[in-house]
Amino acid sequence: MTDVVAPALEETIERTLIVVKPDGVRRGLSGEILRRVEAKGYTLAAVRLMDATPELLAAHYAEHEGKPFYDPLVDFMLSGPVLGVVAEGQGVIEGFRSLAGATNPTSAAPGTIRGDLGRDWGLRVQQNLVHGSDSPESAAREIALWFPGL
Ligand code: RTP
Ligand code: MG
Repeated sequence: MTDVVAPALEETIERTLIVVKPDGVRRGLSGEILRRVEAKGYTLAAVRLMDATPELLAAHYAEHEGKPFYDPLVDFMLSGPVLGVVAEGQGVIEGFRSLAGATNPTSAAPGTIRGDLGRDWGLRVQQNLVHGSDSPESAAREIALWFPGL
């Protein structure tokens, strides 16, 4: 029988990429969104206001290329500054997705970022305030794209 050794606590810490999208920055919700991340107990490892570029977004959203919402999504993400954030803590990848709520802000549950602060504006793409990595593989890939060298 092999021994089961619990991992050291620091080995269980995950990182996720959060992006406050242009609608969130434009509406002055960056602070409220970061407040919710910190209030949950996650730590901010990096925060940077930046302009996304077509190249960065093509890599970031490669899985969505060819879908009907792809071009409007890229246009939307280029429509103003975004806040790139790396947050860390145990379970932060799933935990932030839970804080963010469902993709469609109309049906996102109250209590979530999208449910409390987002709505359908009748535009060509869902403007839903935040992005959050959806798996450890996505998080590693996306953090390397948005924060090379971190
Ligand atoms: P995210 O990647 O931004 O965290 O959001 P998500 O996983 O909940 O949604 P995903 O399926 O990855 O879609 C990426 C983003 O594309 C926009 N979208 N609009 N039918 C639509 O209008 C539509 N579908 C997707 C949203 O901004 C979504 O977050
Ligand atoms: Mg996604």
